[in-house]
Amino acid sequence: MTLEASSLWLLKRVTGIQVHWLYQLGANTPHGGQSRGMPADARHHQFIDVAGFDGLPEEHARAIAGHTGRSPRRLLREGGRIHALESNGRIVSQLNVQFGEFDVSTPIPLRFCLPSDAFFVSFLYTPPAERGHGYAQILLRHACEALFQEGYGRAFCHVRSTNLASRQAFRRAGWRPAGGIVSSLSGRLVGTPGVGRGLGISPVSASSGDA
Ligand SMILES: CC(C)(COP(=O)(O)OP(=O)(O)OC[C@H]1O[C@@H](n2cnc3c(N)ncnc32)[C@H](O)[C@@H]1OP(=O)(O)O)[C@@H](O)C(=O)NCCC(=O)NCCS
Repeated sequence: MTLEASSLWLLKRVTGIQVHWLYQLGANTPHGGQSRGMPADARHHQFIDVAGFDGLPEEHARAIAGHTGRSPRRLLREGGRIHALESNGRIVSQLNVQFGEFDVSTPIPLRFCLPSDAFFVSFLYTPPAERGHGYAQILLRHACEALFQEGYGRAFCHVRSTNLASRQAFRRAGWRPAGGIVSSLSGRLVGTPGVGRGLGISPVSASSGDA
């Protein structure tokens, strides 16, 4: 365990709280990240509706559906999107995108309310056998670039403080911390230090989504 990871573990044990970092990326932010380049055989897919998702080969649809946290068709019907990176005929990384107002279930049931120019990335996932090749950071780059091209100005996500691989993938893709979400282990929202106005994060009693 690194010093940072062990300090966070100790903090959690002593205080009974957990921390998620809120990360953000701006469309006009000069990219500080240094993600790896797209492999020659890799291809970025964006699914914006059920018809597009239904056009996938069965094994790809099944692989993606196992890690969207909810039915991919429901997510798409509700206006969300799914991005995936395919390499050598396999789905090697994927993520969900949501807009506007939606609920998440981690770290506790929370309602996010995004500004109209923003989108939220969640369920970033790379299958264990594909990890460490830079696929998550490459997908993050391509997914965000596609959305920025459409006119969106800002991207947000939240990552558990102890999830070092995920934090590194976001950082490599140019994302930077923009506040924190502190919650108690008993499921109470303690605070959202550093989170700017314009982004609403409030507790809900029951969740209709996941992150
Ligand atoms: C997080 C996850 C998506 C990363 O996928 P990936 O394709 O392996 O990510 P990348 O290779 O693009 O980047 C991971 C980075 O973290 C680094 N890393 C991996 N494990 C690490 C660890 N324990 N400590 C520090 N850094 C670590 C890698 O070396 C790499 O950094 P580098 O490019 O500087 O070498 C993958 O581990 C995963 O699916 N985890 C389970 C689901 C999850 O936690 N999702 C995130 C929810 S916010």
